[in-house]
Amino acid sequence: EKGGYDHFMLKEIHEEPDAVKKTIMEVSDIKKVVEKFPKFNRICFVACGTSYHASMIGKYLFEGIVGIPTDVILASEFEFSAGALDEKTLVIFISQSGETADTLKALRTANEKAETLAIVNVLGSTATREADHVLYTRAGPEIGVAATKTYVSQLTCIYLLAICMGQNEKLLEEIHKIPEYMKNALEKEDQIKDIAKKYKDAKDFFFIGRGFSYPTAMEGALKLKEITYIHGEGYAAGELKHGPLALIEDNVPVVAVVPPGESHDRTLGNVQEVKARGASVIALGSCNDAVLRSESNDIIEFEDEIRDLWSPLPYVVPLQLLSYYMSVERGIDPDKPKNLAKCVTVE
Ligand code: F6R
Repeated sequence: EKGGYDHFMLKEIHEEPDAVKKTIMEVSDIKKVVEKFPKFNRICFVACGTSYHASMIGKYLFEGIVGIPTDVILASEFEFSAGALDEKTLVIFISQSGETADTLKALRTANEKAETLAIVNVLGSTATREADHVLYTRAGPEIGVAATKTYVSQLTCIYLLAICMGQNEKLLEEIHKIPEYMKNALEKEDQIKDIAKKYKDAKDFFFIGRGFSYPTAMEGALKLKEITYIHGEGYAAGELKHGPLALIEDNVPVVAVVPPGESHDRTLGNVQEVKARGASVIALGSCNDAVLRSESNDIIEFEDEIRDLWSPLPYVVPLQLLSYYMSVERGIDPDKPKNLAKCVTVE
């Protein structure tokens, strides 16, 4: 049932291009839901964990493509910030399982005041029965505790929703290239395995990125914590100098997510700062980025020209693989990390 892979997690990472492709095929359902929408003046994403990181990217997309002010709220914090909701607000719940207790509680609160939409992977789950509108991600069942293919499917659905609401035909065409970019990212597996061996005994890891790469950095750090039990922190690259830089010393691994685009030069500047303090830099960037290569101890290069707006989908793949291989190297079962459950049904 693991299809020849050692673990479900690895199998599920390899299923990502297909999961994205299948979710893209849902575009007509997404259009139908969008047609029913009244005019909203605010969007609010609510989620936990990895689904929260997908929501963070949703904020950048909705503000950038649709031009609607957008908030992202952790489900467990929702009751403290639900005051300003009204019928002109669309509250979007992102949940793989559709059963997360914090998310369901927030959904029930939001239902009383605002229009609600649930984006869910599990058919017929509680969230799908309670939200005003439902969209499905088409990742198929995910067995590994760490969310991988469901995350990229959530992202795909959120991109499509923003594209449909913003009526952006050009982006709707571009999204079809993403599964191929992700397949190419999977080809870096052997190189990532070597990097995992090199850093498997590190105590602390930092992940940095700016703009669309900031949630990717957060997600890289969460995967690391979950399945390797190594302390990992995701930071907005610009925040480094406001505190965490004090923790950077010789050989501390810093994973830098540096796709080409608007934020590239500034993040590269942050890479130079940590490098100057002795950090071991593991960079993710374009194969044409000679400066980034020269600043990095290891670099995972993308041959495709992927602009930063699209980078969250292919760029998360090497980060998932890195945590997976580090977990295996450390003798942990990545499918069943300690203290964690696939579905968190308590508050
Ligand atoms: C991380 C992970 C968790 C979930 C979180 C929300 O790999 O799996 O952080 O993302 O518990 O779960 P759902 O999306 O089912 O609401």
